[in-house]
Formats: sequence, structure tokens, C-alpha cells
Amino acid sequence: MQRIAIVDPSESSREALRTLLLGVDFVWLEAECARYEYFPDVIAQSNPDLVIIQMDSDRNKSLMLVNQIAQQYPKLSILTACSDSNSLLQSLQKGAKHFLTPPISLEDLVSILRKALNESSTSISGQVSVQGSSGNIISILGSRGGVGCTAVAVNLAATFQSQGNNQVALLDLDLALGDADVALELPANEMFSLADLARNIERLDMNFLRRAMIKHPASGVSVLRHPLELNEIGIVHEGHVERILNLLRISYSHLILDLSKSLLPTDQMGLRLSDMILVIAQLELSSLRNVVRLLHSLGNEGGMNDKIQVVLNRVGSEYQEEGITIKKAEEVIGRPIYWQIPNDPKPLMAARIDGTPLIKHAPKAKLQQNFTHLTQLLSGKPIENETKKRGWFS
Ligand SMILES: Nc1ncnc2c1ncn2[C@@H]1O[C@H](COP(=O)(O)OP(=O)(O)OP(=O)(O)O)[C@@H](O)[C@H]1O
Ligand SMILES: [Mg+2]
Repeated sequence: MQRIAIVDPSESSREALRTLLLGVDFVWLEAECARYEYFPDVIAQSNPDLVIIQMDSDRNKSLMLVNQIAQQYPKLSILTACSDSNSLLQSLQKGAKHFLTPPISLEDLVSILRKALNESSTSISGQVSVQGSSGNIISILGSRGGVGCTAVAVNLAATFQSQGNNQVALLDLDLALGDADVALELPANEMFSLADLARNIERLDMNFLRRAMIKHPASGVSVLRHPLELNEIGIVHEGHVERILNLLRISYSHLILDLSKSLLPTDQMGLRLSDMILVIAQLELSSLRNVVRLLHSLGNEGGMNDKIQVVLNRVGSEYQEEGITIKKAEEVIGRPIYWQIPNDPKPLMAARIDGTPLIKHAPKAKLQQNFTHLTQLLSGKPIENETKKRGWFS
């Protein structure tokens, strides 16, 4: 945890900055000061890793302060905030390393803090979100109803969550009929949903957001539910999804999106912000035909094509249509199948009834092992068991 000290004679902007900082989980607000002239003493006592100087109350005094601190503590990161761009420029000349222009948004603050703290010589805490780039967003998109999106999204999320320091959030963007909260049974008194966040989007900060993320007790996956009432669906717009995802990726290592099959603007925003899109298909005509349509239409949008991978689900089930082999499917869709998931209804059904993911309910099931290997592939790691891999993965 990195320690921060701030100075700002204005009560109101100091309070706003304090609220923002309280929402950033990798920094600790060690000291606040209301007078520029006392700030050097505050620094000497609190020994912060980074200081923020809000300059608007007295630009000359604050510039002198920047100069003094830069001389006295050459290794300390100094961040200035001011509504006057000339003063900001002068503060950089006097030794500030970074600046912010009010009004300060949480996104701007976090990205500057990350940059500043990564540059400083002090070691960074164990937070995943701080160490690397921001969280990975993986969208799960179906090629028709019932193809297995929710099963894949939930179990992928729980498998990632079980690994290392990962912090995983599952977002149910199937606004009308989503059922991620059935597969992961959530505490009955926790009723927050995407609609509550959309309603409060203007005052959305990290604390509010964290309250809306409901932790599934057994797996530790944080779930953002679809709107609970059908008449709330219209409240959620693509702009809400954009802001929520951008904020969440600050705190989580992985965001898994269970998308609707309607390709609504909210789904499209999810796809746009995703690092990876897994299109779930089965070996039958209507699913494969839709994969072709999806690849064609999404592929036309800049940057989307490279992110899409096709995953075959329920391989080996009796629902597969005769004569449609994997080779044939690859010919039809014009690209290799990225991953195959076997048909394994029993443990999946039992896990769903129990409201827990496979990794908790049946960790030894072949389906769970397949999900573990899929997370390894998605993380760019070697897949543990080559024999098993060859069986499922072409
Ligand atoms: N690999 C699998 N093996 C066996 N059964 C599976 C597998 N994947 C999914 N299923 C089953 O298929 C059914 C549909 O799965 P799921 O609800 O995950 O699909 P979906 O694409 O999210 O559906 P919807 O269109 O309703 O959102 C469920 O009964 C689920 O248990
Ligand atoms: Mg579903």
C-alpha cells in the first residue's frame, strides 16, 4: 500500500480529493494538510511515497512549495492539480512529475497514481491491479440460445479466481433473462444490480461500485447482477457499461462478461472494451451459421477480428448433428477452433442446482479440468497435461 499526503487549503476540493482517494485500493491517505506553509513538516512526519499539491488556492505559494519539496526530497513523487495550465507547466519545471486538471475523475486519478507510483523506486504492494496493466476483459458471446455461455462464463470466472492473486468479477449483461446469479447463488439480502449502478452513474466511485459487487461466498467471484426487475432494463445504457467496465478493470484482474444474444448496444460496448471474445458454438447447423454471421459482422469493426476466438461446447453430445465434424466446422467458419469443451452434463447440472461453480462442487470433473486448461491457454501459460490437452484441443 502506497502512502499519500495531500495539501489543499480549500475544504471542498480537499474533501472531493479525499473521497476519490478513499476509493483507490492501492493507496493510503496518510496525511492531509490545509496550509501550504505547514506541508513540509507534514511530509517530514508522515514520510509519504507521493504528495498531491492542489494549487488553486494560491498559485505562487504552491509553486514555491513544489520547488522546496523537490529540492528537499528529490525521490518523492510530486503530483500537482490546478485549473490553470500555465501554473501546471511551471510546477513541472519546478520539479512536479505529474499533474491533474480539475475536475478530477477517478479514472484520471488512478491512471496518474499508477504511473507515478510505478515510476517511483519504492516497491509496489501485492495488488494485481497495480502491478500489471489493467484487468483483462473476456466476453462470452453465444451463437444461439442455450449454447452454454453462462456455464462457460461462471466456471471460467471461478477457475481464474482460484489462481494466485486473481480478483475476478462476473458481469451479467444478459439484461432481461440473465441467470448467472442462479449458477452462483448469492446471499439473499444482497440485492444490488447493474440497474442500481446505472441509476447512480454520476456519483459512482470505487466504494459505491464495490458495494454493488456481490461476492459469491464459496468461490470468491464478485458478481454484478443483471437488473432484477424487467422494467429496469431500459435504465442501462452503453455509456453506463463503458464507465462501469473502465472502473472495474482498475480493481479486478479479470472481468468476465456473460452477454445477451441480442447484440444490444450494451453488449456491443462490452465487446468493444474486451481484450478477448469467446464465441460459443456447438456442432450443429444453426449455431455454426450464426458463428459465420457474427464473425462477418463483428469482424467489420476495427480491431475486433483479432480478439475473437471460436469455442466449441458440448463436444461429444447427442445434440451434435451427424456429418458435421470439427474439420467441417472449421472449413465453414474459415478459421481454426480455439478450444473444445466436452459434454459433461451431470456435474454441471448438480453444480448449478447447488449454486456453486464446478471448481467447488466437483473439482475433479473432466469439465472442470478442461476449464482449468482453458484459463491456462487464455493466460498464455503452458497447459499442464498434454495428453488431456490433445484430446480436447485441436
Ligand atoms: N459442456 C456442457 N456439458 C453439458 N451440459 C452443458 C455444457 N454446457 C452447457 N450445458 C448445459 O446447457 C444448458 C444451457 O447452458 P447455459 O445456460 O450456460 O447456456 P446459455 O448460452 O447461457 O443460455 P441462454 O441463451 O439461456 O443464456 C444448461 O442446462 C447447461 O447445464
Ligand atoms: Mg445464459
